[in-house]
Amino acid sequence: MNTPILSPVRLLSALVIALAASICQAQHATVDAAHTLGAESCRDCHKAIVASWERTTHATSFNTLATSEAAHQIAKFIGMKPDQIATNASCVRCHFTQEKLASAIQTTAAVSCESCHGGAEQWIDVHNSKSHTRAERISEASSLGMHHPASLATTAKACFECHVIDDEQLVNKAGHPALSDGFELLSWYAGEVKHNYLVSQPGKPLKTNSSEPQTLSTDRKRMLFLTGKLLHLAQSLCALSLSTDAPVAKDGKLVRLANGKPTYAVQHALTIQRLTKEMRELQDKLNIPEYTKALALIAAAPMTTGHKDELCQTSKEIERLAEQFSKANDGSKFAAVDPVIASVVPHGSASQDVAKR
Ligand code: HEC
Ligand code: HEC
Ligand code: HEC
Ligand code: HEC
Repeated sequence: MNTPILSPVRLLSALVIALAASICQAQHATVDAAHTLGAESCRDCHKAIVASWERTTHATSFNTLATSEAAHQIAKFIGMKPDQIATNASCVRCHFTQEKLASAIQTTAAVSCESCHGGAEQWIDVHNSKSHTRAERISEASSLGMHHPASLATTAKACFECHVIDDEQLVNKAGHPALSDGFELLSWYAGEVKHNYLVSQPGKPLKTNSSEPQTLSTDRKRMLFLTGKLLHLAQSLCALSLSTDAPVAKDGKLVRLANGKPTYAVQHALTIQRLTKEMRELQDKLNIPEYTKALALIAAAPMTTGHKDELCQTSKEIERLAEQFSKANDGSKFAAVDPVIASVVPHGSASQDVAKR
């Protein structure tokens, strides 16, 4: 074996690259099959939530995605056999849930409970343990990998990790969408994640058995809407940081793909531009310190490809601001955003149920 000897400088830059890669990583897995239990393990205690989830696109795409002509086309372009779509990590990480059953990894659902709440093997016992206080349940389950809804940013971050596509080849070579067109946290949440079944009286423990979901409170709607902008911005920056493709051709025009859509890098750069504009307009009415900081970070960031580390760093800082914002606020201060939220329409498979509320 011919082992190359690295000079200290090269060693240092190799280290820097390794560190940067561990911050903004392409091909992250949403759930680790080794720690997944599957939706059936939630049913006993969260019957209504499981039943409503079963009617959503997140669940039903289990039977449609892998066999669709569109999926086969995408697989062909990246040199994958169609029968690998439901087993290959490049698709599974966003489209499916896998479990380790009888020591073999099997694909058991599409997007499921643990895709958003985190693999449950380690936290399932403590998350409802009566011998812990609620505060202990939340903090212990969180430290064991639960995305507990007590932190909205932590739970909702998962939406953006899938709906803002971070695989450049998948988009530029195979024509996979680069983003979910029009994704906005409040409207896409209200139309797809039909939750809010837990009932609680002040001072009493939560009960999991309400049969009718409660409507989202005005405060919660504000928090979903405002936290969503920060998370969206962070994830779009992360996706842009992973691009290697110049967004602008030699003649200065935007580069377009065969399907007429702008390339991966351009679509993400345009999203960042749009979000920044929306946040500036909101900021005129709301004056949110985390928005001020995020907008300053964006203004200072090199908004083009070839700056992986800086963009990735900015992305992580904005993600931290999202967490800070969602922990420090309950929405009550942001009545000024209500006229904007009034025009938000639920989007997704559960929106018919929502309309009945
Ligand atoms: C043995 C019953 C039981 C099982 C099984 C169970 N849960 Fe729970 N879950 C509860 C109880 C009780 C609570 C309320 C805990 C509290 O008051 O802190 C809860 C709370 C939650 C919460 C947080 C709600 C909140 O605001 O406190 C989430 C999210 C959740 N469960 C998800 C799941 C998922 C996902 C599964 C399956 C992988 C699951 N649970 C399995 C009983 C259970
Ligand atoms: C980073 C996450 C991510 C990865 C990786 C990913 N997808 Fe997707 N895919 C999505 C999301 C999110 C949507 C829904 C887009 C929307 O809202 O329209 C989607 C939509 C699709 C669609 C429907 C698109 C259409 O034109 O209607 C197909 C087909 C598809 N994906 C196939 C694949 C295949 C095959 C792979 C693996 C080679 C893959 N995807 C990998 C996130 C991903
Ligand atoms: C593990 C990846 C993943 C996570 C996490 C995820 N989604 Fe999705 N979502 C998808 C994929 C993939 C589809 C498209 C499924 C298909 O059509 O085959 C989808 C579809 C949807 C749809 C239906 C879109 C339509 O036009 O019908 C909505 C709405 C949606 N997601 C909202 C959300 C929200 C809100 C969150 C977070 C609370 C979220 N998703 C989290 C992967 C994910
Ligand atoms: C697409 C992402 C997503 C999926 C899939 C999902 N959840 Fe949730 N869940 C969330 C989010 C986001 C919240 C926090 C909502 C809020 O605070 O308004 C939440 C909240 C909860 C809560 C507490 C509040 C309530 O509505 O009662 C429980 C319990 C829960 N989820 C259980 C489940 C179970 C069980 C499944 C699977 C059947 C599941 N979730 C699937 C995203 C998801």
